[in-house]
Amino acid sequence: MKKILITGGAGFIGSHVVRLFVNQYPDVEIHNLDKLTYAGNLENLSDIDQKPNYRFVKGDIVDAEFITHLFEQERYDGVIHLAAESHVDRSIVNPMEFIFTNVVGTVNLLNAAKNIWKDNYEGKRFYHISTDEVYGALGDTGSFKETTPYSPHSPYSAAKASSDHFVRAYHDTYGLPTVISNCSNNYGPNQFPEKLIPLFINNIKHNKPLPVYGKGINVRDWLYVVDHARAIDLIFHKGRTGETYNIGGNNEWRNIDLIKKLIEIMDRKLGRPEGTSLQLITYVTDRAGHDLRYAIDASKLRAELGWEPSIKFAEGFEKTVDWYLANEKWLDNVTSGSYQDYYRKMYGE
Ligand code: NAD
Ligand code: TYD
Repeated sequence: MKKILITGGAGFIGSHVVRLFVNQYPDVEIHNLDKLTYAGNLENLSDIDQKPNYRFVKGDIVDAEFITHLFEQERYDGVIHLAAESHVDRSIVNPMEFIFTNVVGTVNLLNAAKNIWKDNYEGKRFYHISTDEVYGALGDTGSFKETTPYSPHSPYSAAKASSDHFVRAYHDTYGLPTVISNCSNNYGPNQFPEKLIPLFINNIKHNKPLPVYGKGINVRDWLYVVDHARAIDLIFHKGRTGETYNIGGNNEWRNIDLIKKLIEIMDRKLGRPEGTSLQLITYVTDRAGHDLRYAIDASKLRAELGWEPSIKFAEGFEKTVDWYLANEKWLDNVTSGSYQDYYRKMYGE
């Protein structure tokens, strides 16, 4: 039986990747390594955690000794690395945590994989999941290609950029069989409500202000999380070693337009008169270093591996709202306790 390690599998995107792999590859042992930070939630995997090919391993990728031991014991055939500190606003408040997990943690994993595979790289793969934010900000036109120079602006994107460079360096220096993908903003079920869409769904539900940064004119390119997981499956199995693939939904929205669309859907679903929740929109001080626009050119992935998003935005967005409204307990659980402190610190009462 082959054995694959997925890191960060209790988080938003990781849980969708774990689910896809556990269901799709019953003959492959899938280990999910996660520290269970505030963003990690095993409830995300309750539908598959009893499957015989699934195992949860609690641990910190920053702990080199633990990682070395785990790899020597389990001798993984492949690694899909998603564990990270992932929220830009938190990175502005506490950059060091991002350097530890995103940079040091990634290098620990690279070292451990190199150590157990060094005699024979055949059939092995280290897949690093990254973000389009490493490319920096676009003006009104153009899109990020795999060859776009890196120009990160936030501590989060700087740490992700650094980890990408280490992955490439391990490929070029040691011949480690790596592959990287850089994806645009994801949306969908199980996203922690500190990110724009689930935060605003929760606030609309509770009639709380919607803190729009700056003028709301920043643009993001949104992809349904399951389509990201499908791309990860394809790249892990068929992507060329040493390459980078951009993943994106070709689906750009100005924040304010996306928020108005969300309000329209939420008011309808909550039985409120049309436009009721527009009054919750509150313009607040802009995020420091706020990138104006992200847009991904995913033509390489389309041309080489035939990937296309399977879900249209209108459908994915409705499904997402439905999920958060139907999973009230999930939302209540993750927004109790320390979430309240985070919220107060970020947005006041
Ligand atoms: P998330 O914050 O929802 O989940 C991160 C997971 O990593 C959590 O389960 C957390 O417990 C775990 N983790 C954090 N630190 C750890 C550590 N030191 N050791 C072990 N586990 C640890 O993040 P996400 O949004 O699912 O993002 C997953 C990956 O995808 C990240 O690498 C991120 O940079 C990348 N990405 C995210 C997006 C997006 O829109 N969310 C877009 C492109 C790329
Ligand atoms: P976010 O979901 O944090 O993703 P990222 O910063 O990684 O793109 O934010 C998406 C966009 O929404 C971004 O332009 C910042 C903006 N935003 C707000 O206007 N208000 C908020 O409270 C949050 C969390 C984000």
